[in-house]
Amino acid sequence: MAVSNVAREAWRVPYSQPLDLDQVLDQILIGDCLEVLPALPSDSVDMVFLDPPYYLQLPTNKRLVRWGAVSEVESPEREWDCFSSFAEYDALIASVLEECRRVMKSSATLWVIGTYHNIYRIGAVMQDLGFWVLNNVTWFKSNPMPNWLNVRMTNATETLIWAVRERSARGYVYNAAAAKAYTREDFGGKIAANVWRIPLCIGHERLKGRDGKRLHPTQKPERLLERVLRISTRRGQVVLDPMAGTGTTGVVARRLGRRFVMVERDEDYAEAASQRLAGTVEEGE
Ligand SMILES: C[S@@+](CC[C@H](N)C(=O)[O-])C[C@H]1O[C@@H](n2cnc3c(N)ncnc32)[C@H](O)[C@@H]1O
Repeated sequence: MAVSNVAREAWRVPYSQPLDLDQVLDQILIGDCLEVLPALPSDSVDMVFLDPPYYLQLPTNKRLVRWGAVSEVESPEREWDCFSSFAEYDALIASVLEECRRVMKSSATLWVIGTYHNIYRIGAVMQDLGFWVLNNVTWFKSNPMPNWLNVRMTNATETLIWAVRERSARGYVYNAAAAKAYTREDFGGKIAANVWRIPLCIGHERLKGRDGKRLHPTQKPERLLERVLRISTRRGQVVLDPMAGTGTTGVVARRLGRRFVMVERDEDYAEAASQRLAGTVEEGE
């Protein structure tokens, strides 16, 4: 088992062998989740957070330029967000979700996040696989990237789908008090609404690459994961993130006393996640 040269916590493991969960807990594993997940034991994790590529389908031969060409807008499209067709994208999503469903305990829940580009496709795949949707949550971004060309409304939301393995699933964690407190914080009132008001990840929380630009185009805010984890898990439970990017899920899980397993294919992202983890400590209640 070779350990990544920079970060102790980013591991390459022999995925052809079945893995004990204990062997990989609180780690970020570098690799393709379609190779890693089959090595994980069935019925072993309490929650899955999946933040897959969006398949934005941005034109790859054009640069996005702000109105009046004052400055260039960095395109969020990266190699990992490129697919040849919807069929290829759907096949990836179905394979990942199928494996997630296998490793979930019967009482586990799954969260998937996406934008209008992909979330409808993902929702259909989930229902076809037998997942039972508990909620969709609208993440309202209080500081969205404006639509500079003014040709349509600014897209200020992302959607999270929260689901159980099947309709008959029992015993999943739902922390109603936490959900109500978040709504009260956002809008007032006494209900737990499925709308969350959270700013995009900016400032010192946003990781920078060696070139000083943001390291990852879709790093999620820790406040978003904090809600997901507090609402749907208890301390000590195990969370899986198969496409972990900069490791936001693991960082928040560690802070909140949850265990985690993360997988990320890109070594630079995994290294960054690992360094973030090294600087994170568990908080008290
Ligand atoms: C939307 S980003 C996740 C961002 C993450 N939630 C964060 O806060 O940084 C999706 C990630 O999936 C990774 N990815 C894409 N295909 C993958 C695969 N087959 N296995 C593992 N990771 C993959 C990409 O490298 C990318 O970092």
